[in-house]
Amino acid sequence: MIDPTVRSQFNYPTDLIYLNTGTLGLCPKSAIDAIKAAIDEGEANPGTHLQHDERWAQVKAQAARVVNATPGEIAFTRNTTEGANIVCNGLPFSPGDEIITTNHEHIGNILPWLARAKRDQLAIKVFDLAPSPEEILARIANLLTPNTRALSIPHVSCADGRVLPVQAIGAWARERDLWYFVDGAQAPGMVPVDIRAIDCHAYATSTHKWLLGPKGTGLLYVREDALDLISPTCVGAFSCADAVDPRAANFAFVPSAQRYEYGTLSGALIAGLGAAFTFLDDIGFDSIHSHDLTLANQFRDGLQKLDADILTPRPTHSAITTFRLPNIPYADLQSYLMNEHRIRVRGIYEAGLNAIRISPHLYNTAEEIDLALKAIEAAKKL
Ligand SMILES: Cc1ncc(COP(=O)(O)O)c(C=O)c1O
Repeated sequence: MIDPTVRSQFNYPTDLIYLNTGTLGLCPKSAIDAIKAAIDEGEANPGTHLQHDERWAQVKAQAARVVNATPGEIAFTRNTTEGANIVCNGLPFSPGDEIITTNHEHIGNILPWLARAKRDQLAIKVFDLAPSPEEILARIANLLTPNTRALSIPHVSCADGRVLPVQAIGAWARERDLWYFVDGAQAPGMVPVDIRAIDCHAYATSTHKWLLGPKGTGLLYVREDALDLISPTCVGAFSCADAVDPRAANFAFVPSAQRYEYGTLSGALIAGLGAAFTFLDDIGFDSIHSHDLTLANQFRDGLQKLDADILTPRPTHSAITTFRLPNIPYADLQSYLMNEHRIRVRGIYEAGLNAIRISPHLYNTAEEIDLALKAIEAAKKL
């Protein structure tokens, strides 16, 4: 387990039990300090902290290491939703094309596809997640038609935390020459991610969740050979290597995923993101994963004793657990935990689950999980 004194490296109130990293992670003080220092330095020295200076390159290299990509395959974004929009609007679909996705999508990775489908007469085909990887692949295969072009699949379900067989799906998609996008909002920083092994064309994440980066930061990975497939829809100064002659109208995108970054971004947030990566690296991604998993298993064992309805399949390598109590609507339980016990969780309405999700991370402790279980036990008697 991670040393509980790690908590002192965060600013949040000591009486709050924060179990909602799946929505937003908490920035360590070192990242907050890095943001402030970058703002101070940048404002005191106009013209410094420019986009794509040495620091940007360093942070991009850190990001690439986290997911086993090359820096040239990474674009900084504001969040997963932006990444999903870039991918689904950039793929060369034609009317009648079909995209396969799941019934567990977050709105941030279903609305972009639905909107594109509506605009360009595409069809979104949805399958219900199944407990086993084999059954998931079978359900995907059931939806395959000659018009299938793409798959959009979450790495970890935001609804019940299950980890999907993204690597097996990648191999299946490659054999059929399908475009493959993975929504990794809930994965890097929580489970080990090897994008190369997943073999997707693109992968998006929000670094403000499990990677503890500043709010409003994310990453989009686009595999090198997919850079010209996924056409940038928002373009600007940073998409292009050279000055553009509007009369000649010929230009070349930079030969990297930077082409998706278009206009000016906040250098301070990138500095903060770099500090968050360093913070995580110092603790160790493997230690964090096993800490989170230990807490999740402790919570699931406790829930089982309480006869709660646990919706997260076991075994799973994810830190997220989703459950219901039969006696109390999920929204009431969420308010009760916050108002009576200072425990922050999230209600889950995705896939009609109407349940509660807890997502513990490195700043949570076994004692906090015990307190959460006691609070849930008390809620059973309401
Ligand atoms: C699986 C999944 N996709 C997309 C999103 C959207 O994330 P963001 O609002 O950071 O774009 C979330 C947020 O919780 C999510 O869990």
